[in-house]
This record gives sequence, C-alpha cells and structure tokens, in this order.
Amino acid sequence: MDALEALHSRSSVPRLSEPLPSPQMLENIYKAAFRAADHAVLRPWRFLLIKGDARLRLGDLFVDAGLANDASLNSTAQEKLRRKPMRAPLIVVCISCYKPHPKVPQIEQDLSAAAATQNMLLAAFAQGVGAMWRTGSLAYNAVVKGGLGLSADEKIIGFLYIGTIDGGTKQLCEPDIQAHFQEW
Ligand SMILES: Cc1cc2nc3c(=O)[nH]c(=O)nc-3n(C[C@H](O)[C@H](O)[C@H](O)COP(=O)(O)O)c2cc1C
Repeated sequence: MDALEALHSRSSVPRLSEPLPSPQMLENIYKAAFRAADHAVLRPWRFLLIKGDARLRLGDLFVDAGLANDASLNSTAQEKLRRKPMRAPLIVVCISCYKPHPKVPQIEQDLSAAAATQNMLLAAFAQGVGAMWRTGSLAYNAVVKGGLGLSADEKIIGFLYIGTIDGGTKQLCEPDIQAHFQEW
C-alpha cells in the first residue's frame, strides 16, 4: 500500500483473531517504530511482546491489579479482566522509557514513544494486519507496571493489540481540515 493511502485511511480494528501475522510482517511493524521523530535519537521506548500462554499470565496480572484495587471484585468481573489479553494473538506493551537529557524533557520522550507506537499501527495497517491501541486504567496501574517489570522512570503508554482482521473495517468520513488548520 502506498504511504499516503495508509496515512489517509488507517483505522483501528477492535475485533482481532488468530493467526498471528507472519514473522516478516511483524518485523516490518517493529522496524517502523524506529522511524519515529526522536529528539537526540534517545530511543526512549521499549516494547514487550506478549503472545501465546504469556497472555494468560497477563490476564492473571490484570486480575491481581483488579483485586488490589477492590478486594471484593466478583468472579464475573475477574473473568472479564482475565480474558482481556485473549482479544488478540499478540499484545505489544508500549513503554516510554525516560532517559534524563539536558535538552530533551520527559514530555518529548513520551511523544516520541507515542510516535513509534503510531508508526507500528500504520505499518500494521499498510500490510493488512489488524491493530488497535488501547490503554484503560490497567495501563496506569502500579501492580501491572510492577508485574511487567517497569522501572520508576518507565510508563506504559499503550497496549497494541495485533492480529488478523475479524469482521469488516469501518467506513471513514472525510476529515474537516478547515476546522483544525487555520492560517495565522
Ligand atoms: C493513548 C491512546 C489510548 C487509547 N485507549 C483506548 C482504549 O483503552 N479503548 C478504546 O476503545 N480505544 C482507545 N484508544 C482509541 C483507539 O485506539 C482508536 O484510535 C479509536 O477508537 C479511533 O479509531 P481509529 O483509530 O480507527 O480512528 C486509544 C487511543 C490512544 C491514542
């Protein structure tokens, strides 16, 4: 797919299924992260790849986080948390890793990690691979962060769900360019 076509038509895919995209497709997705704008080329990111049975461990961690928040969480709610990682064959945990630098404040590093994440979404879309960026309170939860091994200078900026497109893709409407771009 042409780059402009991907940029103008990318959309998220909430319903994802097996199989996992091919190793070549996945490498293309991961490689795209490195072309994010990145002040001082700090590479202020890292990504955890969670697939197969590791998703069950992530589900358990989500339940632990839920119970730490509310010890009376009922079994239905626990099961809902446990099943979240099973929504796709691969979850990429996108982590912004702050590296103290005299010219690059933390916000710029977070933005760079977000740009790397968006690049991966685009690389997935360009290859016909389904993907969706999710967060929710679990992304900001201390139990989840600890269980995934994050340090104090790291934050989860998203869970990228990746897999085979299951169902149709949505119709896009024409963007209102004038409403968001004004001459000054
Ligand atoms: C940082 C971030 C976190 C997001 N978290 C969620 C989420 O937890 N749940 C959700 O339904 N959409 C979430 N979204 C939005 C979707 O990824 C998606 O962009 C939105 O549904 C619009 O669809 P589109 O990407 O096809 O335009 C998040 C987006 C960003 C940038």
